[in-house]
Amino acid sequence: MSRTGDADTRLLVRDLAQVASPAGRAAPLRGEALGALDVLEDAYILCEGGRVSAVGEMRELGALDGDVEELDGRGLAAIPGLVDCHTHACFAGDRVEEFALRAAGASYEELHAAGGGIMSTVRATRAAGEAGLAAALDRHVGWMLGAGTTTFEAKSGYGLDRDTELAQLRAIRTAGGVPTWLGAHTVPPEFEAAGAAAYVDFLVEDVLPEAARIAEAADVFLERGAFGVDEARRYLSACAAHGLELRLHGDQFTEAGAIPLAIELGARSVDHLESTGDAGIATLASSNVVGVLLPASALFLGRPMPPARALVDAGAAIALATDFNPGSAFCESLPLVCSLACTQLGLSPPEALAACTVNAAHVLSRAERKGRLAPGYDADVVLVDAEDWRHLAYHLGGPVIHTVVQAGRIAWSRRA
Ligand code: NIG
Ligand code: FE
Repeated sequence: MSRTGDADTRLLVRDLAQVASPAGRAAPLRGEALGALDVLEDAYILCEGGRVSAVGEMRELGALDGDVEELDGRGLAAIPGLVDCHTHACFAGDRVEEFALRAAGASYEELHAAGGGIMSTVRATRAAGEAGLAAALDRHVGWMLGAGTTTFEAKSGYGLDRDTELAQLRAIRTAGGVPTWLGAHTVPPEFEAAGAAAYVDFLVEDVLPEAARIAEAADVFLERGAFGVDEARRYLSACAAHGLELRLHGDQFTEAGAIPLAIELGARSVDHLESTGDAGIATLASSNVVGVLLPASALFLGRPMPPARALVDAGAAIALATDFNPGSAFCESLPLVCSLACTQLGLSPPEALAACTVNAAHVLSRAERKGRLAPGYDADVVLVDAEDWRHLAYHLGGPVIHTVVQAGRIAWSRRA
């Protein structure tokens, strides 16, 4: 009954203490629905052809004919594979020196203004070459997988020239990620004299046509010291005309008009929101734009936490992501983000789980296949090393991930 290796091998995860999955099939989830979770005890998950074919209680499990690989789920709880909808995982080098400077009192914005920050990673990424960049990304993807992330988005934005931006997007796609073009991350030194508007002209004319063939979405850093509303509108509108979904980094340090612009342009999401006030909360809540919250970034920079509870209570659709990058959030762990969501953002464990599964999958236009454990969904399953799935958020920074199944195959195991 137990064999491994065939392309069609079925996988039965059996005797699980719990299977927990956001209820229903709708996306994105808002309000009370965000916290509605289906939990089965003493349960199994059957995976066939890369999809979930059945989920149920062990007492309902009939005999299975043919080859079935079995995975012993005793003492473990299953949740959907985690979806990280906002990362900058495609970078070379690190910023540990800058981290030490910040620990001694320098601020992130000061380092950025002095030509460090994002630009220091741009220099390392340009110098890495395509093979070096792919190797760095593979290493980061391995970290994410070990933290339970089975679907990830990653942005360019550390090239800021045509070749390196396109190389980043290709590397992300090759590594199995969802590529987002963040050409408008910051104005590179080559364009310092000409200015942000001239840099946007270059992006739209020289990079966008090819970037749009590789990326699924475009993103912009709308912030003092980066891009203003007019430039962001021009860049994003051109990207939309090339068929890209739109995302914005907004309200990280100041409210510079990101939420109204996101709504005006029909963006998928506006991300960060650490500085969003009451009016912005109400405006976002009455729209279809998802607010992507990045508490690891707020923690890492010592910034205020985003107003997650107020957003959910006002009816906004929210998602949680890591923002994994070398400067503002050197953190690939969605379990840690869930801990922050429950301890700092006022979310319940079920709300946190839905925000980094179903709602994050919606941000990436994948909610029909990702983010739930139910028949027809992709067989991406995380086994939490506890009988109660809530240890995912409860165990602060602990080794909570036991096994990761991706497309019906064991992709990572702590005991391997
Ligand atoms: O989401 N705010 C802009 N971009 C990234 C940080 C990038 C970096 O510091 O390298 C962010 O925080
Ligand atoms: Fe970011």
